[in-house]
Formats: sequence, C-alpha cells, structure tokens
Amino acid sequence: MEREKFGSRLGFILVSAGCAIGLGNVWKFPYLCGANGGAAFILIYLAFLLLIGIPVMICEFSVGRASRRSVAGCFDMLQPAGTFWHTHKIIGIVGCYMLLMFYTSVAGWLIQYTIKGFSGAFDGITAEASGAMFSAMVTDLPGMLAGCFAVCAISVLVCGLGFQKGVEKVSKFMMIALLAIMIILAIRSVFLPGAMEGVKFYLIPDFSKIEEVGLGNVLYAALSQAFFTLSIGIGAMVIFGSYLNRERSLAGEAVNITLLDTFVALTSGFIIIPACFSFGIEPGAGSGLVFVTLPNIFAQMAGGRLIGGFFFLFLTFAAMTTVIAVVENLVAINMDMFHWKRKQSVAVVGILLFILSLPCVFGFSIWSGVQPLGEGTCIMDLEDFIVSNNLLPLGSLGYILFCTCKNGWGWQNFIQEANAGKGMKLSHALRGYMHYGIPALIILIYLKGYYDWFYTYAPMKSLAVWMGIAVLLLVFVLYCVFAKKKTAR
Ligand code: PHE
Repeated sequence: MEREKFGSRLGFILVSAGCAIGLGNVWKFPYLCGANGGAAFILIYLAFLLLIGIPVMICEFSVGRASRRSVAGCFDMLQPAGTFWHTHKIIGIVGCYMLLMFYTSVAGWLIQYTIKGFSGAFDGITAEASGAMFSAMVTDLPGMLAGCFAVCAISVLVCGLGFQKGVEKVSKFMMIALLAIMIILAIRSVFLPGAMEGVKFYLIPDFSKIEEVGLGNVLYAALSQAFFTLSIGIGAMVIFGSYLNRERSLAGEAVNITLLDTFVALTSGFIIIPACFSFGIEPGAGSGLVFVTLPNIFAQMAGGRLIGGFFFLFLTFAAMTTVIAVVENLVAINMDMFHWKRKQSVAVVGILLFILSLPCVFGFSIWSGVQPLGEGTCIMDLEDFIVSNNLLPLGSLGYILFCTCKNGWGWQNFIQEANAGKGMKLSHALRGYMHYGIPALIILIYLKGYYDWFYTYAPMKSLAVWMGIAVLLLVFVLYCVFAKKKTAR
C-alpha cells in the first residue's frame, strides 16, 4: 500500500504546528509563567527550546522520514541488526495513549466552555460563581462523559476521512482560524486600561522570583514545558516526518514549527496576563487560571460575551488539532503493526481511547478519593506527570542517543537525512554537543528536578518510591545503549 503524503508544504507545517500548539501553549504556559517569575522563566524556556527542543524535533522528523514508519516501526527499520532500540516504541505508544487519556477531558471542557461563552453563561459572573461553575462541570459525570465522547468522535471522523482529506484539511482550517482569532484577542487585551503593568511583568525578567521558587524547580518546569509544547519524546512528530518528501531540509522545518509554537505561547500570555492585571487578579492562579479566573474577567469586560466565546473557541481549536494529530499517530501505529486498513484502525483507536479516558473523567467525581501525588491531586495529575515529566524527557533522550550513537542509527545516517533538501543545514560541529551535551543536560535536570519537586510538594514518604521509579525509567532507556554494545556487529 502506498504511504500517505502531505498535499503541500504549508500542510506539513500547519499540521505539525497543530500537533505542537495545544493546551501546553494556551493553558499551561501562561500559568507556569505566572508561577515561575514571568519573563525570567520565559528566557530559560526559550533557551531550552533552542538548545534541546529543536535538535530533538529534528531527530524525530529524520527518523520518520528515513524509515517511512510510525513510532511503532521506525526503530525496527533503522536499527543495526541485533540491537534493542525498537523497545523504545513502548514509550511512544504508551505516551501517545496516556497523553490523550487526560487531553480528551480538557478538550471536552473547552467545547463546553465555548458553548457557555457564546450563550452568555459568563455574563455578570462573580469570582465565586465562576469557581462553582467549573467545579459543577468537572463533577457532572454525564456532562464530562459527553464532552469526552464528542472529542473522541470528532477525531475519529476527521482521521477516518483520510490523511489529506481529513487530518490535513481540517487542521489547516483550524490553525488558520486559531491564528486569526488569537491576534484579535491579543490586541484587545493589551489595550485594556491598566494592562501595561501586566505587559511589564511579562517582559521584564525578575530573577529574585526564581530564587523564591528554587532554581531546580524552575529549570525542571521550563524543560518539561519545552518538551511538552513541541510534542517531542513520544514519537508524535515521527509520523509527520514519515509523510514528508525530501524537498526541504529538516532543521529549517523544525525551526519554523518551533517559531509558530512559540509565537502562539507568547501571544497567549499577551491575551491572559495583561487582562489579569487590568482587572487586579493574580496571574499565577494555577491550572484554574483559564477556567476560573478568565470567565470572571470576561464578565467585567465590554463585549465580554463575544470575546469569551472566541477565546474558548481558540483554545478548542488548539486542543483539537493536537488530539487529531495524536490520534493519527495511533491510527498509523496500528496500520504499521497489524497491517490494518485505515477505517478499521480508526474505529479501534476511537473505542479504546474513549475507554482509556474514563479514569481521568471518573477522577473528578466518583474516583475523587484517588489522590496519587499527594492531597488534592487527581488521576489527571498522575497521567500528566507520567507523560510530561517522565516519558517526554526520557523519550527525547532515546531519540538523541539513537541518532548519535554508533550502535544506533548513527550520526552519519542521521545528518544525511536531516540535511537532505533545500534550506537550513545542521553542522557536523554539533555532533559532540548532541551526543554528550544534550543527554547530560536532560539526565541532570531530570533527576534534580524530580528530587526538588517531590521534596517541595509531595509527602516525603513517597519521595523514595518516586525517585526509584525515575531511576528505573532512566535505566530502561540507557539499557538500549548498553544492551546493543554486547550484540553489535
Ligand atoms: N504539544 C502539545 C501541547 O502543547 C502536547 C503534546 C505533547 C502533544 C506530546 C503530543 C505529544 O499541548
């Protein structure tokens, strides 16, 4: 069967950017920024995107383009005989499913909030009422199930239409609409009275805040966010590399996608943070910022109904393009592994996804007693933690090692693939940095961040357990490198 292909270069950039641009940009980024010192956090985050994020993305695209396979088959195709790199697919498959297991719930909330926004549910709402509205939504089991079902159904329909006719077409439309809505919202927010204070907080670094939060925590948060926002580490980008021709070099494309992603993250901050300052509300309000704080702000704003509605529509598009992209990954994984037809694969993924999303949905109501990461946490926090703070960094480590180790795919093969086509080229001078520097940075920040995070937030007794898990996971990834040494030709 002939492999699917992108219809155009714009299609590739918008679909990959659609996968990257999601809740990470509009929901997580502004509150992480608020909690970790505004512009100082942004600087560290940008440095990580450049130093680690873009190289890993180039690795993922190269592996995909060279193998013409999803994460389920790419290592099998490229690894030297007798090596164990293919076990790395476990991180990819588990990661894609687990990401969607909580993403479907949040995307469901967004659909509900878009309807609420346009229908005037935020009109005149107070801060308390806004909090109550959010709690009522997440504890309402039938409503949550319906939202989750809608998200699964939409992605199944889009992926079922085919890659070019479904995924590429719909994502392109959503991304263009998203960019247009976003720019209008940002202009509106920056011109609110008193908004300039927010712009200052956002643009002028305050390094004392980093001391307050702890450098280890800030670095860990910034690095995890860099992986999350670029969708790297679990092979989500491999698939789009596999649908790509060799007209353009991959470094240039990775830079374009990262620029678009960063533009959306920074502009989301410009929508949210100045509006908070204008209405005298703390921007570091945690994950409730978007769902609790903002409706209250829209209620006080002239034209708030329309702005609120469009804001949540913007977020819905961001989330849905990500869900569709990851579902496409899972569909392609089944097609590669079991040689299924697209329609069959889509149906299986849709049903499985809905069932797997249930623990997260139940975690807000009937299973709210399950608090896996300490008091007040829920199943979603655990799933997010496993993906964002473990699978993404360790998966990224795997891609970097695979592309730079002699016993893996190797530097020569990698750079040849990455540099094939017109555009920006990777230099051979980066070899040492990518082989030693990036893995060292990832391992160091991973372990240090793990320690700090649990020391600060989680009950001490769970520290040892979680540190143990972190080390085991790390050993698993490094195992690939050592196992192959014995068996390499
Ligand atoms: N990048 C997505 C976001 O910002 C999340 C994501 C992570 C998607 C990993 C796929 C893989 O929301």
